[in-house]
Amino acid sequence: MSSLGTSTAPADPKQAAAPVGQPVPQNADAHPDKAPQGKNPQRRGAKVGRKIRIRIKRCDGPGKSSYWEEFEVPAYRGSNVISCLQQIAANPVTVDGKATTPPVWDSGCLEEVCGSCTMVINGKVRQSCSCLIDEYAPSEGDVVTLEPMSKFPVIRDLWVDRQRLFHALKRVKAWVPIDGTYNLGRGPTEAPEHQQTRYVLSTCMSCGCCLEACPQYNLEPDKNEWDTAFIGAHAISQARLFNEHETGSRLKKDRLDALMGPGGINDCGNAQNCVKVCPKHIPLTESIAAMGRAVTIHSIARFFRG
Ligand code: SF4
Ligand code: SF4
Ligand code: FES
Repeated sequence: MSSLGTSTAPADPKQAAAPVGQPVPQNADAHPDKAPQGKNPQRRGAKVGRKIRIRIKRCDGPGKSSYWEEFEVPAYRGSNVISCLQQIAANPVTVDGKATTPPVWDSGCLEEVCGSCTMVINGKVRQSCSCLIDEYAPSEGDVVTLEPMSKFPVIRDLWVDRQRLFHALKRVKAWVPIDGTYNLGRGPTEAPEHQQTRYVLSTCMSCGCCLEACPQYNLEPDKNEWDTAFIGAHAISQARLFNEHETGSRLKKDRLDALMGPGGINDCGNAQNCVKVCPKHIPLTESIAAMGRAVTIHSIARFFRG
């Protein structure tokens, strides 16, 4: 379960966030794989009620070996991966007629905002709530394959533990230091152009897509290694967001120190996979370059300061 407490794992179908088979809220324009409704020929031709197959990589608990199970579900207009999982959870019987346990996954907002439902779908990492079945399985018998992200420990089935992702945000102090109950007065003013640059950075939903795609970011179940293992593109970009904030910049040196250390920005191999998969189109490589320059200047200044 995520450490921010925004997510749920509806192992019990009664806890599912939308009625079985009903469309759930969509944010269909945020991912390169998605086409607006009516413009994708596959979606236009998709037959309502056709049977499609969902193949799930399952795991009964941490450290247990994984296995595959396949289910058949009807596809409705607006069906997405989560609504298919809800149907399976309500009637967990495989295509071979074997009764099994309901699949477990993580989800929260169901509109591509919380980032908790990220999984690997047909080999590509993305949010399952915004993954439309009409696009991924437009024909009778089409198969959609679901796997948990590989860079985080599996808790069960498709549900992974993203704690390390949030730990990285703590490493770079990804916050504005204004906690307190007293009146701090007016905040500093900011130019609209400046706000615009930072706005897109602020849309990061800690989904983990950039980490799943990064060749430098590997599964690290040992928490003792988290402070020295590669921090990840999301944390580098959040360090930039808060360093460029007038008040947040009070912690700028601490953030640059963190990025200078082991597992910091120098571990980035510049493969640029991260920027290709970010569902929020955050310019991650631009952030990495900006923070790389800031770290260089910071280390030279530190050298002369002694
Ligand atoms: S640029 Fe490459 S190595 Fe660096 S964070 Fe992105 S995917 Fe990872
Ligand atoms: S930077 Fe993009 S891909 Fe990475 S965690 Fe944030 S929203 Fe997800
Ligand atoms: S459930 Fe929140 S992003 Fe999918």
